[in-house]
Amino acid sequence: MRRLVTGALALSVICGAAAAQEAGKQEYMVACAGCHGESGMGQGPFSEWLNLDVPSLTGLSAANDGVFPYLDVFMVVDGRSGVRGHGGAMPIWGERFSTTAREEFGYFGAEVVTRGRIAVLVDYIESIQE
Ligand code: HEC
Repeated sequence: MRRLVTGALALSVICGAAAAQEAGKQEYMVACAGCHGESGMGQGPFSEWLNLDVPSLTGLSAANDGVFPYLDVFMVVDGRSGVRGHGGAMPIWGERFSTTAREEFGYFGAEVVTRGRIAVLVDYIESIQE
């Protein structure tokens, strides 16, 4: 019985992780691929209209001694804290996600949804590291 419960638990964790991976990928294709490219290599169709280079997102671990800089990436994507809040080419996703969720989920609920959306995105970016 215990084995069955453990097995079911493991399966639901694996399915949950797969669902989160898929959600992150879908979110990426909708919100990010236009600039960063479907492969994350930085050659999305909008990138040619920007007057600066859109960075590739597949070498973030390599540029950080082989360790994926999870928190840095989270903060860059969120964009609500630090210097990026004062302008930059990257949209401030934390603001966008929370503004659209606030009506449905209230202020605190919107914050949970926003951080969840950013977390699955960052997990997805981690999964495409070379
Ligand atoms: C309008 C084009 C555009 C879109 C859409 C966009 N980005 Fe960016 N992104 C940029 C540009 C340009 C930079 C580099 C300059 C800057 O940070 O403003 C950048 C930088 C980044 C960086 C930092 C990379 C590094 O080398 O440190 C990350 C991480 C990132 N983007 C993730 C995302 C994610 C995730 C999404 C989707 C939610 C997204 N971007 C959507 C244009 C875009």
